[in-house]
Amino acid sequence: MVGLSPKPDRPSYNVANYLKENGYKIIPVNPKAGEILGEVCYPDLSSIPEPVDVVDIFRRSEEVPAIVEEAIKIRAKAVWMQEGVINEPAAARAAKAGLFVVMDRCMLKEHRKLERRRIMEEKKIRDLVRERYSQIASQEQQSCCSSCSCSEATPLSQVEAIGYLAEDLEHIPQETIMGLGCGNPIAITELKAGEVVLDLGSGAGIDVFLAANKVGPTGRVIGVDMTKEMVDKAKDIAKGYGYHNVEFRQGEIEGLPIDDKSVDVIISNCVINLSLDKSKVFLEACRVLKPGGRLIVSDIVAEKTLPDEIKQDPDAWVACIAGALEQQEYLTKIKKAGFEDVQVISKREFYIEGKQNKAMEKLLSITVKAYKRERSLS
Ligand SMILES: C[S@@+](CC[C@H](N)C(=O)[O-])C[C@H]1O[C@@H](n2cnc3c(N)ncnc32)[C@H](O)[C@@H]1O
Repeated sequence: MVGLSPKPDRPSYNVANYLKENGYKIIPVNPKAGEILGEVCYPDLSSIPEPVDVVDIFRRSEEVPAIVEEAIKIRAKAVWMQEGVINEPAAARAAKAGLFVVMDRCMLKEHRKLERRRIMEEKKIRDLVRERYSQIASQEQQSCCSSCSCSEATPLSQVEAIGYLAEDLEHIPQETIMGLGCGNPIAITELKAGEVVLDLGSGAGIDVFLAANKVGPTGRVIGVDMTKEMVDKAKDIAKGYGYHNVEFRQGEIEGLPIDDKSVDVIISNCVINLSLDKSKVFLEACRVLKPGGRLIVSDIVAEKTLPDEIKQDPDAWVACIAGALEQQEYLTKIKKAGFEDVQVISKREFYIEGKQNKAMEKLLSITVKAYKRERSLS
């Protein structure tokens, strides 16, 4: 007897979700003869009218090998044996016949525990980042981007060292120059009068004010930052200097407080590495850009995966190091979010030293340019 039973709360729902997201049609099978689990019941797998991709066996039974044979006969793509029904010889038989075999030893309790721990870790990192940047905004703490040499550097000399021009900097409020960036996205953005620009993680607003001078009174520049103190500081500066074409909003770049298809250009400087969900950031960027709109980001990436010692160091997170992805992974995330013509325009290398093993790790400060696809691929 085969029952179709849509039970999303079963222990293995994480596996079920993975399979569903990847387009598999799942048929749960209760091998205990006579027990009807769902509303629809069939005497065996071959009498199910639609094609079955995944045969999900979720009760212990001597019949597991027979069900595997049936799954092979109906050309299912996968068998999925949940904890308690795992039958190694039957699994080996399915694998030999070319089926994908899922042996699920993950229980709901364990899964929830791990999920809770992950959420707590993420919250801890986000709170720490917010706290440090709020101290930096209030000048209770000095900071400089990990990619520049900090000794005796002033914020002005730091930003000049990463490519900002003195003649551009002269025309913005000097309080916005905090030396927190790792590149100069504005240098290659070629902004036109009247354009709408969005800066992700705008800090005290250095790039917002530079962009505002370029788009002029008919254009508009919006800065989004999650740290209230940064947003307040940038708002005060804009008011004090009488800028009417800039706006600062408090918000997270993983859920932008910006309308769909409302922006011509997105810039960002040394921020996305701090995000715990970079795919979401690029998807959000794609959502708010107009079709054909451009994305220009300066950020830190790693040449190869960083050791756990660095990835788990909270100070390294705040210093824009621990969250650095490998360059290729970073670029792939941009493409997957809906961008094309993704190019690394500039690249600068620097090294950091592990605290314990003292090994030198190579990091890169890159500036990437990409365009939102005019039409979606789907
Ligand atoms: C290294 S600073 C760079 C600031 C600015 N782009 C500059 O170049 O001066 C990083 C900024 O990103 C903000 N930030 C970090 N993670 C964020 C997130 N998930 N959403 C919004 N802002 C974020 C921080 O509050 C901080 O102001």
